[in-house]
Amino acid sequence: MWVYVKQLEYPVRVSRPDLEMAKNIFAQFGGPDSEFSASWRYLTQAWIMPSGVAKSIVIDIGTEELAHLEMVGTMIDLLLGDATPEQMDKAGLGAHYVEHGRSLFLHDAAGVPWTSSYVQAHDDPITNLRENMAAEQKARTTYEHLICKTNDEQVRKTLAWLREREVVHFQRFGEALDRVQERMSRRPHF
Ligand SMILES: [Fe+2]
Repeated sequence: MWVYVKQLEYPVRVSRPDLEMAKNIFAQFGGPDSEFSASWRYLTQAWIMPSGVAKSIVIDIGTEELAHLEMVGTMIDLLLGDATPEQMDKAGLGAHYVEHGRSLFLHDAAGVPWTSSYVQAHDDPITNLRENMAAEQKARTTYEHLICKTNDEQVRKTLAWLREREVVHFQRFGEALDRVQERMSRRPHF
């Protein structure tokens, strides 16, 4: 299943530490429309897909989202730099520092912890695929908001690349939906 290559899916660089931006990017680490939510939404839903191709699409995207979580984590870590407790306080990360220090944790930009209620899995593949398409659009919108919040060209480049992957995932879930609908139309409905 895995071929181990010791590199990120796309290089992550930042021009300088920026604690406010690190705080914003937590939206994509542990927020409702984050890469973490996407991974576990897809990696729980995949097993009820009615065809091997649809199942593979959902699993492949779920695992790619974990690679994106690695990129987002790397970006936050670089943006935090060697922040002092005082600097973290000033950037609105004071409570984060008290509970986690400089470690990353699964919460959103406002510090709200991740919860499994952000994701859902049903035994209806069409329901799931439509949810996934909406989730990809919400993640794309979140990346667009993040791009607006920084003038660091390096950070913008990585965010734009991640945004582009959300568009591709939306399209691939659309392909899976077409296949599943076609297959289900050939058998009796309940
Ligand atoms: Fe995605």
